[in-house]
Amino acid sequence: MLHSVMVQTRNLIRDEVLGAISDDDDDSPSGKRSKLDRFPLSRWELAVSLGVFLVFSSSLFCIYITMPAAKSGKLKLPRSISDLRLLNFISGNFIYWSMVRPTYDEDDGDEDAEIIVNGDEESDEEEEDDVDHVMDKMSITPKHSFMNEMERDRLLEMPSVSRLCLRIDVKQEGCSGMSYTMEFENKSNARPDDSTIEYQGFAIASPVKTNFYGVSLVRSPAFPVLPRRLQHRVSLSRQVRAVISREEKAVDQEDEKSKNRSVVYSSSSPAFPWQRSKYTGTKTVMAVVKIRKKMREKLTERLGHQFELLMKAVGQGMLIQLVSEDIDPETGSGRRSLETPVLGLPKARNDPRNLEFTATFTVPTDFGKPGAILVTNLLSSEICLSEIIIRDGSDTILFPGNTWIHSRNDNPDGRIIFRSQPCLPSHTPAGIKELREKDLRSVRGNGKGDRKPHERIYDYDVYNDLGDPRKKDRVRPILGGPEMPYPRRCRSGRPLVSKNPPCESRGKDKEEFYVPRDEEFEDIKRDTFTAGRLKALFHNLVPSIAAALSNLDIPFTCFSDIDKLYKCDIVLRPTEPKDTGLGGFFGSFVDGILNVGETLLKYDTPAVIKSDRFAWLRDNEFGRQALAGVNPVNIELLKELPIRSKLDPAVYGPQESALTEEVIAKEVQHYGMTLEQAFEEKRLFLLDYHDMLLPFVDKINSLKDDPRKTYASRTIFFYSKAGALRPLAIELSLPPTPDNDNKFVYVHGHDATTHWMWKLAKAHVCSNDAGVHQLVNHWLRTHASMEPYIIATNRQLSTMHPVYKLLHPHMRYTLEINARARKSLINGGGIIESCFTPGKYSMELSSAAYKNMWRFDMEGLPADLVRRGMAEEDASEECGVKLVIEDYPYAADGLLIWKAIKNLVESYVKHFYSDPKSIASDFELQAWWDEIKNKGHYDKKDEPWWPKLNTTQDLSEILTNMIWIASGQHAAINFGQYPFGGYVPNRPTLLRKLIPHENDPEYEMFMRNPQYSFLSSLATQLQATKVMAVQETLSTHSADEEYLIDLKENQRRWFQDEEVVKYFSKFSEELEEVEKKINKRNKDKKLKNRTGAGMPPYELLLPTSPHGVTGRGIPNSISI
Ligand SMILES: [Fe+2]
Repeated sequence: MLHSVMVQTRNLIRDEVLGAISDDDDDSPSGKRSKLDRFPLSRWELAVSLGVFLVFSSSLFCIYITMPAAKSGKLKLPRSISDLRLLNFISGNFIYWSMVRPTYDEDDGDEDAEIIVNGDEESDEEEEDDVDHVMDKMSITPKHSFMNEMERDRLLEMPSVSRLCLRIDVKQEGCSGMSYTMEFENKSNARPDDSTIEYQGFAIASPVKTNFYGVSLVRSPAFPVLPRRLQHRVSLSRQVRAVISREEKAVDQEDEKSKNRSVVYSSSSPAFPWQRSKYTGTKTVMAVVKIRKKMREKLTERLGHQFELLMKAVGQGMLIQLVSEDIDPETGSGRRSLETPVLGLPKARNDPRNLEFTATFTVPTDFGKPGAILVTNLLSSEICLSEIIIRDGSDTILFPGNTWIHSRNDNPDGRIIFRSQPCLPSHTPAGIKELREKDLRSVRGNGKGDRKPHERIYDYDVYNDLGDPRKKDRVRPILGGPEMPYPRRCRSGRPLVSKNPPCESRGKDKEEFYVPRDEEFEDIKRDTFTAGRLKALFHNLVPSIAAALSNLDIPFTCFSDIDKLYKCDIVLRPTEPKDTGLGGFFGSFVDGILNVGETLLKYDTPAVIKSDRFAWLRDNEFGRQALAGVNPVNIELLKELPIRSKLDPAVYGPQESALTEEVIAKEVQHYGMTLEQAFEEKRLFLLDYHDMLLPFVDKINSLKDDPRKTYASRTIFFYSKAGALRPLAIELSLPPTPDNDNKFVYVHGHDATTHWMWKLAKAHVCSNDAGVHQLVNHWLRTHASMEPYIIATNRQLSTMHPVYKLLHPHMRYTLEINARARKSLINGGGIIESCFTPGKYSMELSSAAYKNMWRFDMEGLPADLVRRGMAEEDASEECGVKLVIEDYPYAADGLLIWKAIKNLVESYVKHFYSDPKSIASDFELQAWWDEIKNKGHYDKKDEPWWPKLNTTQDLSEILTNMIWIASGQHAAINFGQYPFGGYVPNRPTLLRKLIPHENDPEYEMFMRNPQYSFLSSLATQLQATKVMAVQETLSTHSADEEYLIDLKENQRRWFQDEEVVKYFSKFSEELEEVEKKINKRNKDKKLKNRTGAGMPPYELLLPTSPHGVTGRGIPNSISI
């Protein structure tokens, strides 16, 4: 018995979860937690950190005291850490520079990078021919390669550099070559004949007389940047060969790829634009780089990160380079600044989420407006770039990031970040056009290989990873193809475990499926679920429930067994140790300490029985939930009788329903109305799952391992003059047998037996409804259908594209939650199969629904309502439709949300596409729409109903449809799962018995104890507890949820266009009004589907919500 495993209330899972969340939020001084609780490190972490610190400090001290004397001799003893670093660096890299390298051969096969320094424009022309054969190839070669270009870069910015200069002298001259010396020395030792040039505080000194056969180094404007050049070239080849050339001829042997990655130097294509024909002067441009902190870091990661910072100097993990919107006439690409390190300690700001660093650029005054920034992450781990703000004089330009920058170790290509201002492809500034195309190419991939976690490749694939062909009970069909059409998913490229059919490996149990890096949950969301929800659900909770209740896989025997789930606790013993991220003996030791004790599970009382424990028994509540429950999207107007099936009569029997005119007329009479009147006044409605389910009924009912029983149901409702929707009659069908049509009709009885039969029939309708809701309306029509839109948006629309920017908030977390669902929810043997009636045929059912009913143009709310006959077209109405039942809460509130989205989208689209022809000529947009139809929804590509995309009106309708699905539609379908389904009898997801008939063995038991017969048909205690855990998890708003009503805050930051900001502000204001209107409706006593004794109001489309299981709130995207 369940109560045998219940103990006194202690720490509840809920408390743990909320505690984990509030720990981060609550930093008030009045908080009552101990200091130790508030300290960011645990005792173990603190001890290890101190140990590492002591070892490191001792090592540093030893290095210091054993350091050789500075060879320069003129340097004072180091007085600070920066002096020490400087001395160490100079000793290591510069002192030994002395080289002679005559190079006559045109190409010696050396692939090392070359640095070409300008020839002297003032040189004597007569001498040129004489020296060309020598000087063209004269080179300076370092004795050894630089090992750490970042060190050098940092050196140039160190205060100590102000005391030093780089001296260059000719050591030896001759026609066979020259040798030079390069040495650092104190500026105070400058000689009278020295000429010194400074560049960004770095001084280079050389005797004025130095003139290498007419090539004057010190007078060349290019020369001061030599150290910088060395630095950049080293990053490519790790060996530098500097060629001093007198000839005005480019010698650039870099391939195109390298050219894009680094500054290219040649005499004809100088390092900087201002080195060309005339020197225009320079200006300083500041960059503020915001890096997002990691909220949770494993101890090993934290220590490694700190060590890396210490070794590389704080903040020196990133190089950034500005790219101008203007074209550099020499390269044909945008002008580029130098790659510049992000420097210094993070600035102290009142921003708990971000660290701030700065960088300074010196660019020519005519550099132009920066349009893109190239970012290279030199650290060994990824960095989350929040944004970069460029301050150019009085101009402030925002470069939104919100993106993970991979380590250069993982991929040598840097990232391109565009400025925030959206622009159509045809308006792209010339200087960044090439980068716009390059960035898009980089996310498309080549359709090959196993995707790595750091990648951001978006590609398509079929659902071939749900089953495992190697295990007999886990074989599942591939979804996506002519037999089983389905929307495409994001390709992950894992190895195949079978070639025929080609099924992808599912990896290890805890291995997550690939999603592009920026699609992954952020720390707060991940942390929320790691603490207690998704992680618990997928890895701990369900197995723990199974372990705790393994001997209790028995039916509920009385209703009080169910009630106990909300009053008492279930003891959960961890089935496996929690992973601390530490391996080996040490990890096992820590794991052992952390994995002590038990956790307890307790459920909240679901909203549907909170105020009225018996509401679920009533017919009007059954009808109300068809209009205002968690699945209000299948009810339709009944237009004629008898109802006809579209299934093949040879297989599925007579097409006419057993719900005849006679049966319905008799029931309608109870309301004082004839059947004709009821039709005329549009009072008859239908919930029809017959055709969708009947093809699966036999297969489902034959399941042996995990038995469940079902029918294909049809329910006819009557909408009374009092405003209540009541079920009139239910038809439950089994596939026909030779002597029986197997169509059973039930009506509300007036005696005890028919009364209980009616209850069982309603339970079977609910079971049908729960399966279709989860697999079709929730998973297929929101989650799965949205995935191709997201993939296409990333592959075909630049991050600069206005449509990308509009859709971006509505794509958040969807790929990740879908990947997690493929891993643990909808997979073969997963939670959905085990808890819902269709069992192993769940996804086949979903595919059949996609094949038979899904069409893009009917997914918008008004079109869907008209298709179902629940609304009529009416141009005088705001959304162009008039509801047949005014008190249809989902539709009435949904239309308010739909209208607000439509208004926003129309204004936005008109703003960016003022020219009517610009839609057709926007090649990115056209490619996006083509790909959605022809790749993302490949199996439907030839359908005639796909909307055209030629006008602003077309685009507005398409985008409104998508945003509605991601926000309002998903919220209405998703967040009521626990409030309505958390009480198993109200909405059984699975039934284990058919309704007994007089000759059945079960009938006697039914007559003797109908309550037990009802309860024993429901899911077992174990199954019910599992499904409650799933529904509660899927109904949860995480702490970092982003809501539609806050879109203005979300979007305002990325638009510097006041007009666009106004659209978002207006949208938020509209939603505030919507909220008020819904609250008002929920208090209107005339609206019987919203108000009544003990009845919960309809809140699923209220825009706002706190986090948790609230049964309200519209997030921007499908995030759970
Ligand atoms: Fe969902």
